[in-house]
Amino acid sequence: MALSVSLRGTREPLDAPLVALVLGPDTVLGAAVAALDREMGGVIARSVRQRDFRGGKDEVLHLTGGPSGAHRTLLVGTGAAPHRATALRRGAALAARRARQLGVPTLALHAPGASRPDEIEALTAGLMAGAWEYAELKSPPPPTDLRPALESATIVVADVAKAKAGLAAGTALGEGQALARRLAMMPGNLCTPGYLAGAAREIGRRHKLPVTVLGRKELEKLGAGSFLSVAQGTPQDPKLVAIEYMRGRKGDKPIALVGKGVCFDTGGISIKPAPGMEFMKFDMSGAAGVLGAIEAIARMNLKVNVVGLLGATTNMPSGTAINPGDVVRAMNGKTIEITNTDAEGRLILADVLGYARRYAPAVIVDAATLTGACVIALGHNATGAFGTDETVLNEVIAAAKAAAEPAWPLPLWDDYKEQISSDVADLKNTGGRAAGSVTAALFLKEFVDEGTPWVHLDIAGTAYSESDLVALPKGPTGVPVGTFVQFVRGRAR
Ligand code: BES
Ligand code: MN
Ligand code: ZN
Repeated sequence: MALSVSLRGTREPLDAPLVALVLGPDTVLGAAVAALDREMGGVIARSVRQRDFRGGKDEVLHLTGGPSGAHRTLLVGTGAAPHRATALRRGAALAARRARQLGVPTLALHAPGASRPDEIEALTAGLMAGAWEYAELKSPPPPTDLRPALESATIVVADVAKAKAGLAAGTALGEGQALARRLAMMPGNLCTPGYLAGAAREIGRRHKLPVTVLGRKELEKLGAGSFLSVAQGTPQDPKLVAIEYMRGRKGDKPIALVGKGVCFDTGGISIKPAPGMEFMKFDMSGAAGVLGAIEAIARMNLKVNVVGLLGATTNMPSGTAINPGDVVRAMNGKTIEITNTDAEGRLILADVLGYARRYAPAVIVDAATLTGACVIALGHNATGAFGTDETVLNEVIAAAKAAAEPAWPLPLWDDYKEQISSDVADLKNTGGRAAGSVTAALFLKEFVDEGTPWVHLDIAGTAYSESDLVALPKGPTGVPVGTFVQFVRGRAR
């Protein structure tokens, strides 16, 4: 169950077991905080005066309350943040994460001065992100260690009516991100291609959206030889899933959101080394991002046409698996020499991008955990962004920034194309170590119609964190849900 977030006015009494105040270095505490401070015997103002709390980034001070009012107060710092919504989001996430660790069932959150819809939205989505956990596969702790689960939060605002739209949008986004994170966290033996298709169907059922699922047989009929070459080593049925959200103007070309859905990537015959291979369950984060985005977009009831497309399979070595040197033919007719079976994401996406053609999309944005090279280039702090149309590329990068999921441009120049030319086929699926993210993107470009603006997001470094991120635990970050949603919102009427 995702955290349920509500609003309350500053004049209502703050009798929560935990009150979290999100503060920057220069935040004016205001009348609402003064009232809380009086109840707590002046400890808040004193802590600020004594510089025990300075409002720095990720700073947290836990204050124990008195016999009445708030039982505890948490001062959470944002630092002198240049982007206020991003800082509020992080502060709220940190507060919710601490609340969950403390074992309180509910918290009240107050960020003095936050009132704009985007600020309330950031607080809401932040609370939900910080409260998120994946505990489905853990046995419950012994009764002596059992703490109440964090179930609800309330945001304290000066004007409840004005904050409602922000709460609704933040909740929609939070639900979409929670859905995507759950799918990415699930191990590969549970989150199979069939399971991903089922998740899409379930979203479709709840929001009354048509969902199409194509399996191996249907893909064969379509001539999706590139996608199928990856799936030929696994007994699991691969799935190409399309989910249509057509609530925009009739006749408006849809936005196509495309995701790589490799439920587990062993590398295939070009098998990966054992250490760290377990993380390759996250190789469907692009697909999870598409589903999470559709969930959020539907909850927001955006007036826009969007089609979500994902290609799901596992990449396995076996007696039937594709071998290096083999040549296959993609749906658009191009032949591909497979020089490394571990470069499977681009083989799958080649045909999903080919399939997107039937929707005559206005624009295609794909997200894929495509290359380790992108992690080398940009680390874990930025998604790699490539585009055939500079204006649209900048639009996506701006959306990523607003969503606190930074993306940074990398070149998509023809100069690199030589690296993926093949002696036997139209192209090969790897281009060597140099500029590995660029050659992967250039490969994908071969399967996009020339007239269709296309943006490719390489989320290999940003979709999943192997270390604790302070505001978020280890595991899936929710990337690229925020970016997709923000981009689509910008195009809704
Ligand atoms: N899913 C991986 C990319 C990846 C690697 C993401 C490490 C995150 C961390 C992808 O399918 C892959 O294996 N790519 C290869 C391509 C190479 C064979 C050209 C890679 O990056 O090593
Ligand atoms: Mn791979
Ligand atoms: Zn992969």
